[in-house]
Amino acid sequence: MLSFLGRTFVALAASLGFAASALAQDYPNRQITLIVPYAAGGPTDSIARLIGESMGNTLGQTIIIENSLGAGGTTAAGRVAKADPDGYMLMIHHLALAAGATLYPKLTYNTTEAFAGIGLVNSGPFILNGKKGLPANTIKEALDYIRTNQEKVTMGGAGAGSGSNLCNMLIQSILGVKISEVSYRGTGPAMNDLVGGQIDFLCDQSTNSMSQIKGGTIKPYAVTSLERMKDLKDLPTMAEAGLPGFELVQWHALYAPKGTPAPIIAKLSAALEKALADPKVLARFDDFATVLFPASARGPAATDARLKSEVALWGKVIKDAGGPAK
Ligand code: MLT
Repeated sequence: MLSFLGRTFVALAASLGFAASALAQDYPNRQITLIVPYAAGGPTDSIARLIGESMGNTLGQTIIIENSLGAGGTTAAGRVAKADPDGYMLMIHHLALAAGATLYPKLTYNTTEAFAGIGLVNSGPFILNGKKGLPANTIKEALDYIRTNQEKVTMGGAGAGSGSNLCNMLIQSILGVKISEVSYRGTGPAMNDLVGGQIDFLCDQSTNSMSQIKGGTIKPYAVTSLERMKDLKDLPTMAEAGLPGFELVQWHALYAPKGTPAPIIAKLSAALEKALADPKVLARFDDFATVLFPASARGPAATDARLKSEVALWGKVIKDAGGPAK
């Protein structure tokens, strides 16, 4: 027999469950905001706009993109962690969400507790690129150039913990050099400056690098995956270039605030799946040299598990490298 308190609890839980499923049935009945933690025109922004448009068509509501910038992507994550868990504010993020958990000791949210994964979107390498006017023509010459000119060499980055910043940190720690990083609010503007010759190097996602490489406006030196890229077969890997074990692979995922009702997460996940089968999206992913996760391992549970394991992975890498900057 249930006590009075027990019965009250069951009745409350049932009515909350009912309210959640009523909310989900009606969802979405207005526009959805998709927060992008980096500047417009960059790689994360490009992926967000592409899948946002396709998901909006499926859901019958516009998905508007809002670039919420700063602190290596943690400002955006802090906003989404505090948002109402009703499915109307979502976020796309990448490995910086995981690295930020160790790099920023005073975060306003708990990275592994604050978000509900919707799905894994794509994964692709970074490419170490140089400005066209650099004398180096190969990765070996580029690394020699960095070693000999470390006081004056400039590398672009999108803030502590961003992919470009982690790539710069790995290069510096392996080469044992100290280089000045020019900080941007995303690699969209950083790439503009590389093309304009204002900075020397930018390690950026293939998504943002491919069209410039094909247009001959920048010099690609090496790819950060352990395998060569099928689109740029002649480009060596960083590991082949004498930086053993060098591996940095980008991955994007979609999140909602924790507490978002499961039926809403399911609707969003189904809309994401539809976007990931959309020929228009797939053709752009090909241009970006970025790939999908296997269909059986990219849903909400796989996203939560990946975030957890990447928080642990980057926690170890950053601590082994001396911990977050004080
Ligand atoms: C990064 O450096 O992590 C990204 O390229 C940032 C961005 O999407 O602009």
